[in-house]
Amino acid sequence: MNVDLDQLRDEALAQIAAVAEASAIEQLRVDLLGKKGRVTELLKQLGAMPADQRKAFGERVNRVKESLAQALESRASAINDAELDRRLKAETLDVTLPGRGEGVGGLHPVTRTLRRIESIFNSMGFETVEGPEIEDDWHNFQALNIPESHPARAMQDTFYLLNAARLLRTHTSPVQIRTMQARKPPIRIICPGRVYRVDFDRTHSPMFHQVEGLYVAENVGLADLKHDLQKFLSLFFERDAEAMFRPSYFPFVEPGADVHMKWGDRWLELLGCGVIHPNVLNAVGIDPERYSGYAFGMGAERLAMLRYGVDDLRLFFNNDLRFLEQFR
Ligand code: PHE
Repeated sequence: MNVDLDQLRDEALAQIAAVAEASAIEQLRVDLLGKKGRVTELLKQLGAMPADQRKAFGERVNRVKESLAQALESRASAINDAELDRRLKAETLDVTLPGRGEGVGGLHPVTRTLRRIESIFNSMGFETVEGPEIEDDWHNFQALNIPESHPARAMQDTFYLLNAARLLRTHTSPVQIRTMQARKPPIRIICPGRVYRVDFDRTHSPMFHQVEGLYVAENVGLADLKHDLQKFLSLFFERDAEAMFRPSYFPFVEPGADVHMKWGDRWLELLGCGVIHPNVLNAVGIDPERYSGYAFGMGAERLAMLRYGVDDLRLFFNNDLRFLEQFR
């Protein structure tokens, strides 16, 4: 056995030290210590040795084997460290850069307006009530003194649901009906919600929001209506709001009025209102000889336009963030 073990070891150590890549280290490990590796081959020769030499030689080979294994391992980890170092330098993260932020959200201007309307009326003693957006003809029209084929139906271009005798409510007034059917006076409620009409221009959208108001008790009349609305408008606009009450026709009130406010150089209609028609009270089983009331229905987008100085109602529904972010 004339292999020079020391020489093999020194050569191998030099090779290991010269390796620069993880894959080359692996190759070297196979060459040296693998099943057919140079060191393994030496061990296989042990069997053919005279017994007295076997032990000493075996120990020497094993020592070489161990020192090579160690050298391979530490070289491999040095290569890995270097690789990690290189990548950290190449893929630098500048942790001192300011963060991108969480993109704080905000409420939609119409939602803010609805909440503002609601909280003012709540503070004035009105309870919030809601009703369905899919209505039947009776609640949306007939009970409100708008019989079938009444010309006033033409005021509200309606989305009818095919074959179902249903429709998308054209106003929040059916919630008046549902509430009066379910409760006894005194009743003092507001009903915010979505309503639908076949309409689309600068001041109309096919879906919009109304807030209905209803006050039924003994001796409620036009003076209460005017007073309460004036009070609401000055609280809402935080100033002495100059509102114009103009006589108007709605089948479910008598007398009836529109309320307008200055919007640039024209008047913008904000709401309809009036003293509840006796036919409506009769339809819901409230005695019109004993009770009377007022009702109003205001357009939430219209109020938002005035409050925020918006000149096109459709902006509320385009969902352009450049517009919406101004209301955060
Ligand atoms: N419902 C009416 C509309 O949408 C508004 C209104 C409500 C008028 C209550 C009078 C009383 O046009």
